[in-house]
Amino acid sequence: MPAESTPPVEPATYRLRRLRRTPALRRMVCETTLTVNDFIYPLFVMEGEGKKEEIPSMPGCFRYSLDLLLAEVMTVHGLGIGAIALFPLIPDPQKDNAGTESYNPAGLIPRTVRAIKEALPDMVVITDVALDPYSSEGHDGIVKDGEILNDETVAVLVKQALVHAEAGADFVAPSDMMDGRVGEIRRALDAAGWIHVGILAYAAKYASAYYGPFRDALDSAPKFGDKKTYQMDPANAQEALKEVELDILEGADIVMVKPALAYLDIICRIKQRTNLPVAAYNVSGEYAMVKAAAQRGWLDEQTVMLETLTSMKRAGADLILTYFAKEAAIALRQM
Ligand code: PBG
Repeated sequence: MPAESTPPVEPATYRLRRLRRTPALRRMVCETTLTVNDFIYPLFVMEGEGKKEEIPSMPGCFRYSLDLLLAEVMTVHGLGIGAIALFPLIPDPQKDNAGTESYNPAGLIPRTVRAIKEALPDMVVITDVALDPYSSEGHDGIVKDGEILNDETVAVLVKQALVHAEAGADFVAPSDMMDGRVGEIRRALDAAGWIHVGILAYAAKYASAYYGPFRDALDSAPKFGDKKTYQMDPANAQEALKEVELDILEGADIVMVKPALAYLDIICRIKQRTNLPVAAYNVSGEYAMVKAAAQRGWLDEQTVMLETLTSMKRAGADLILTYFAKEAAIALRQM
């Protein structure tokens, strides 16, 4: 910095292109390096056997029955990806307003976590804590008279987190945006002896239209209204800092911003304020946009993918949840 205030030579003689002249020079001054260690791969699991269904709005992403999911997790592990985030497709008859199935110890997610941990103990398994996949209303909380109840929902989220910890999850990831849930989950985990189970908090989660394809994948779109009474207004940045501050005070181990691409400024500001790892969720709609344009030949998929992921890391993300994890891992190997 001081060098700029006292230039050693006349400014006109600076030639920044010197550092861009060859690939070796560009590598030498490269400020941001994406690696496979940055990625967390989200995976969708469903009941049944031998099932693999492509999600129409997320080409290249599938819902797997547990047997085929295990094979996929092995493949992912073979590519060097060390962490996955699990999301369940719950059959309609198992859904209710209170999300009762979410804390069934024999439910789809606990069974999946156990099977993965048995097959691959060193794979970091992160589970989603929220009611929407289990909710007949498609909301992240219990609904009463058109309102999403906060504290009643938190009590259910705590039960869900305990069941996931019991099954062997390394991290629980509350994605619901109810107030106070990180603290309640931390206290309950500790009281039950799960002191090593971490919390990846969806700290600044916006009410975003970029979640559309994900809701197709899980059949979890809200049956009425929207999620604006709990997820954040895309216009707000100060509020994101408050959300993050509280989640850290409540005991979050990692704080996440979601979505990522339209919120790079938020990632950047949060990174400047905390020494905890910051995660970014490169969400379904961000993935779908690139895929759709690439399918039409309008964008070069691999280059756009790596540019986008690099932008998130450059903004300050230490970790990136991305449906591109597999493709990016392969692309990075070839570089
Ligand atoms: C819900 C949840 C959502 C996503 C992850 N967890 C959707 C929502 O809030 O409606 C979206 C992920 C994506 O779009 O990739 N708890």
